[in-house]
Amino acid sequence: RSDRTFTMIKPDAVANGHIGAILAKINEAGFRIAAMKYTKISKDQAKKFYEVHQERPFYEDLTDFMSSGAIVAAILEKENAVADFRKLIGATNPAEAEEGTIRKEFAESMSRNAVHGSDSDENACIEGAFHFSGTEIF
Ligand code: CMP
Repeated sequence: RSDRTFTMIKPDAVANGHIGAILAKINEAGFRIAAMKYTKISKDQAKKFYEVHQERPFYEDLTDFMSSGAIVAAILEKENAVADFRKLIGATNPAEAEEGTIRKEFAESMSRNAVHGSDSDENACIEGAFHFSGTEIF
């Protein structure tokens, strides 16, 4: 469905104690939490999750990083969720992220960039299903 997106608060932001502040921003921006868990993914799960990037030079580092510590995974609901959430998180490179965005405030670098946001409705659906079963979504 097109009114949902998938997000992860990444290991850098979790380790730096930003879970609460990031969730507050998500709520203030009008997203409803449909599913959420505090979890950790294995290297193999990270490789599967980021399969589309497997030919990229940063694939190994990305999957090492994403499996290095706890994350918060969530499905968020709002009209126009995918595009509006990408606007809220800001550019992948925090140096290019606009003032007021989550990455501007919390990201450390291109790879340690605090949050993930799905880039399409189709991927939101695939990524949400990777972390949650139907009975975990409300
Ligand atoms: P994310 O939105 O989780 O989806 C893919 C991730 O790959 C992206 O966030 C970045 O953290 C990472 N990424 C994208 N481009 C680069 C890059 N050039 N160097 C390192 N990491 C990157």
